[in-house]
Amino acid sequence: MIGVFDSGFGGLVVLREFLQALPQYDYLYLGDNARIPYGTRSDKVVVRFTAQAVDFLFRQGCNLIILACHTASAKALRTIQQVYLPVHYPERRVLGVVIPTVEEALARSRGKRIGIIATEGTVTSLSFDLELKKLDPEVEVVQQACPLLVPIIESGEQEWEGTGMILKRYLAPLKAAQVDTLILGCTHYSILKEKIRALMEDNLELICSGQVTAAKLVDYLHRHPEMETRLSRGGSRRYLTTDLTPRFQQLASLFMGQSLTPEVVEL
Ligand code: DGL
Repeated sequence: MIGVFDSGFGGLVVLREFLQALPQYDYLYLGDNARIPYGTRSDKVVVRFTAQAVDFLFRQGCNLIILACHTASAKALRTIQQVYLPVHYPERRVLGVVIPTVEEALARSRGKRIGIIATEGTVTSLSFDLELKKLDPEVEVVQQACPLLVPIIESGEQEWEGTGMILKRYLAPLKAAQVDTLILGCTHYSILKEKIRALMEDNLELICSGQVTAAKLVDYLHRHPEMETRLSRGGSRRYLTTDLTPRFQQLASLFMGQSLTPEVVEL
């Protein structure tokens, strides 16, 4: 079984891409809706919450977990891979969205000027910036935190005129820096993809981590038959959440394009 973890519903856009690319496997999605947002929390808390979620998914039988949450990938993945896994689950793997997205951005960038929009936590972690520069020390990176976008999207205000104004303000420094590639470094932002594109230069390369991570996961499983053969292939999907609010189905439809049957769990 493949576990997919996010702080809430946004990771469903990533799961959706996995289901298209690799429909044969069993998937267990976990959204920590009781504790969203992660994007404004300290490193210590994001590591603790993510480790609890990973532990929970492992106990449910996942052999491979993808952190669809960019904030968790940026702030917690390294600690989980280097400290937690070797002690508790040396045979299992946790992967994130930062490295696949960074590799794709560098492959597609013509002028090596790459912009990133993300939560405050992801931006201050400097994860995208560091990983980009590790692979290409020449690359110019411009980051912009967009703290208002998650609440706007979660409250269904994408079409509000204020959203356009806020986006314009967030994108201004990236436009001024003439980035040729823009990473949408948060689960939620692909919902605003067309609006973002319309506000930027025509030939901008827009990188959505969901699609990219799905393609890289296909490749990863080819290269790691020892993991691939341990993944069950029943085509099942289960959706776990740590809180069930009346807006569950509305948000599930927004991110997944369909209503879902939720199971409430405690971590
Ligand atoms: N899932 C988070 C991310 O991708 C956005 C929501 C949150 O702040 O928890 O960074």
